[in-house]
Amino acid sequence: MQLKRTVYMGELRASDVGKEVIVSGWVLRRRDHGGVIFLDLRDRTGLLQVVFEEGIDPEVHKIADTIRNEYVISVKGKIRRRPPGMENPKIPTGEIELEADEVEILNTSKTPPFALDEDLSEVSEALRLKYRYLEMRAPGGLEPFIFRHKVVHTIREFLNSQGFLDVETPFLTKSTPEGARDFLVPSRLYPGKFYALPQSPQLFKQILMVAGVDKYYQIVKCFRDEDLRADRQPEFTQLDMEMSFVDEEDIMSLVEGLMAKVFENCLDIKLELPFKRLTYEDAMKHYGTDRPDLRFGMELKEVTPLVDGTSFKVFRSAVEKGGVVKGLCAPKQFSRKELDELTGFAQELGAKGLAWIKYSPEGEFEKRWSSPIVKFFEKWVLEKLEELFELKKPCTLFFVADSEEVANSVLSELRNKLGKELGLIKDGFEFVWIVDFPLFEWDEEEERLVSVHHPFTHPKEEDIELLETEPLKVKSRAYDLVLNGVEIGGGSIRIHRKELQERIFKLLKITPEEAEEKFGFFLTALEYGAPPHGGIAFGLDRLIMLMLGKKSIREVITFPKTQRGQCLLTGAPAEVKIEQILELHLLPGWEKEKKKES
Ligand code: AMO
Ligand code: AMP
Repeated sequence: MQLKRTVYMGELRASDVGKEVIVSGWVLRRRDHGGVIFLDLRDRTGLLQVVFEEGIDPEVHKIADTIRNEYVISVKGKIRRRPPGMENPKIPTGEIELEADEVEILNTSKTPPFALDEDLSEVSEALRLKYRYLEMRAPGGLEPFIFRHKVVHTIREFLNSQGFLDVETPFLTKSTPEGARDFLVPSRLYPGKFYALPQSPQLFKQILMVAGVDKYYQIVKCFRDEDLRADRQPEFTQLDMEMSFVDEEDIMSLVEGLMAKVFENCLDIKLELPFKRLTYEDAMKHYGTDRPDLRFGMELKEVTPLVDGTSFKVFRSAVEKGGVVKGLCAPKQFSRKELDELTGFAQELGAKGLAWIKYSPEGEFEKRWSSPIVKFFEKWVLEKLEELFELKKPCTLFFVADSEEVANSVLSELRNKLGKELGLIKDGFEFVWIVDFPLFEWDEEEERLVSVHHPFTHPKEEDIELLETEPLKVKSRAYDLVLNGVEIGGGSIRIHRKELQERIFKLLKITPEEAEEKFGFFLTALEYGAPPHGGIAFGLDRLIMLMLGKKSIREVITFPKTQRGQCLLTGAPAEVKIEQILELHLLPGWEKEKKKES
């Protein structure tokens, strides 16, 4: 390389006119205006117009003539003002250009599979992921990652200033129960044995508290073999934290300070503190979900007591079976076609149907209501509905009659869908803490209690006496942080005494032998002076996705997997050589082979 860069292009301005510079980068566009060659050249910081005049050294002109899109070049020349009328106010270097007098081609490039100067959202995601480096190199392509860097930098700065230690924990480890499936790594040295990749550093960070670390954080990869969605990847990044000698309030206020700093530094937004709080019970009641989007209203209302005596069989029989009837009011009168589509949407989510009543506030009372089912309701019921939903404008009421669980999950999805489609969601960031979660829920399939968070979550002190008698009434000392309807973080105060931990295992039907086998190392650590402690972990990818208003965490991860878990860039997961499989003792019959050998 003869021409060594002296300056980044994005830093150049009109005040640099007259300066001799050498710039290096990639050619975005090239135009040949009858002998005068124009290149749009760019590096990480920005784009500069380079001009090869007709009259320059013919050797240089000859080289310039061979340059094509995405070639990597260095150019030496003088910064000059663009001729009047030729300025481009859309780019920061739009007043100037580089008059080239030397050029060096550092590398050529094949014609890229998509044009880098066009709207890449038109290009299929599969192609963009296969050539992710080209997508990143395209104008604006690095922005999410530069932003992500800034967020991480701010997080570290804040936590370091609060006395946190950044401590690493292993990736090759034993299974941690976060509720997903583990990725397993077969051991070569121990036939038939496996490492598990951590679903989170949960047990290690708790052990770090026993070690006296006191305030821990780590920005760390976690691995979960689960079904993927827009906000889920098999490997994702957590901001993981744990503290000793603290309670819920300490952790929540620290997190609020952290979020305020991150939003201020990175988006120049001042968050209102403290964040709102909702109990799990209220969240389920009003929104049907423990991750409500509070940027809009349209809350759910339960109408069971109004309709339990109705002659509408669908509602009555649901109530008789111990179910509920819940509904919401959307500020629009939908067409028949739209109502059919919404019914289909509800059915796909598991509802048996979606009852609707159109309402318009004008005229005689009876004429305000339009629906095939309205004939089943007496006047007093309709009056109550008017009151309950505060009906004043034309709208449509939707109802689901089912178990509480189904009614909630269908209506919460319907609420989100209608919120989006009717443009009810206001811009901005709505944080809410969800607190007072139940400690356990009942798993119908396994016919046992399971943890709502993980088995190390501390029950509320006042509920401990209910553990054996009414376990489903026991609340936990857990908290989730929800932003715009997405769970961005969750944590809890932990159990730090072995006896209580063993009681919880027993209730979860984890036998002492099983507990010993799975978490014996952890239970042992609890016996050596574990301090009271608690913590939280954030989905960093999700936080950044929301801050940037992106639709999927794939957009803020450099080399993400597809919905089907593939890396289109590398082709992982991929086949391996038979020798590798043999070495790992993975084929049937390895045990016999082993015996023969010995
Ligand atoms: P939890 O399982 O709630 O808690 O995870 C914490 C946060 O991580 C994010 N997250 C994910 N992001 C992308 N892809 C995934 N597959 C994925 N799974 C989870 C979510 C979630 O809120 N050890 C506990 C934390 C604690 O108790 O301190 C834990 O891992 O934003
Ligand atoms: P049907 O009597 O089955 O024709 O249903 C009458 C109306 O009630 C239709 O609009 C159905 O979509 C709706 N419906 C059926 N089952 C339910 C249910 N479980 N909850 C709410 N609406 C329902």
